[in-house]
Amino acid sequence: MGWDRHSVRKAVVPVAGHGTRFLPATKAVPKEMLPVVDKPAIQYVVEEIAAVGLTDVVMVTGRGKRAIEDHFDRAPELEEALEAKDDEGRLQLVRKPTGLVRPHFVRQGDALGLGHAILCAAEHVGDEPFAALLGDDLIDPRDPLLARMLEVRRERGGSVVALMEVDPEHVSLYGCAAVEATDQADVVRVTGLVEKPPKESAPSSLVVIGRYVLAPEVFDVLRETPPGRGGEIQLTDALQALARRDGAGGPVHGVVFRGRRYDTGDKLEYLTIVVRLACERDDIGPDFTKWLREYVGRTV
Ligand code: G1P
Repeated sequence: MGWDRHSVRKAVVPVAGHGTRFLPATKAVPKEMLPVVDKPAIQYVVEEIAAVGLTDVVMVTGRGKRAIEDHFDRAPELEEALEAKDDEGRLQLVRKPTGLVRPHFVRQGDALGLGHAILCAAEHVGDEPFAALLGDDLIDPRDPLLARMLEVRRERGGSVVALMEVDPEHVSLYGCAAVEATDQADVVRVTGLVEKPPKESAPSSLVVIGRYVLAPEVFDVLRETPPGRGGEIQLTDALQALARRDGAGGPVHGVVFRGRRYDTGDKLEYLTIVVRLACERDDIGPDFTKWLREYVGRTV
């Protein structure tokens, strides 16, 4: 079966954010390059994209993000040095990011918000539905989410967002959805979306986590979307407009995710992911867990 204009081939990953929550580490290093154990956070996201068979990735970057481009490019000197040492294991590690997808880069210029970042990819994406993934959200590869979202898009058309139930105290950190049930337990129809509402006026405790499958009509809506919360052009506001439509980019459905999701943008959560993934690793896991048990035993 060949490609038709309804199948998703491309993914957009905005990476232009400053990462101020991780200063000073992010003064000269992009936050997306911070290691989660020994792999930069952005590589987990690109592996997630490759795992569902999407091959064309456009990263929306900005000043100071060159390290991301280098990471997904060949490293001839390093590869030669490792080849000379017959270090096949490390050679594989160095080469892996290059072979995952075809990366493209567009610059955001002015940081006018997530909606604006997505709009910067419009020319590359064209008139096709596409996936969008935010680098701060890591989805555990053992709990596939994007594949399910693509399935829902195939079945129902329009646009699809990933939703997760959070503590009502935390809704004000996210885009929050008003929803109606559908005939599938993990799928809801999104009837409204609001960016970072105060908990008193939040429509539910279902929030958008950083995975989207968007119809190309979102670009036209974004071009007309005025700055919203924080003076930024919000993707959530554009989705709110699509949620009211039947066709032309809508309706919007939500896949309710109940798996493991980690927010690498939050300092405390970042530390917990590193510890958790390190404990689960075959190589360093046993020794690290042993040390951790002793350490915790000594300090509590
Ligand atoms: C962005 C979106 C928000 C979403 C969140 C998920 O916010 O604007 O709707 O819930 O990502 O991580 P940010 O975290 O970039 O402020």
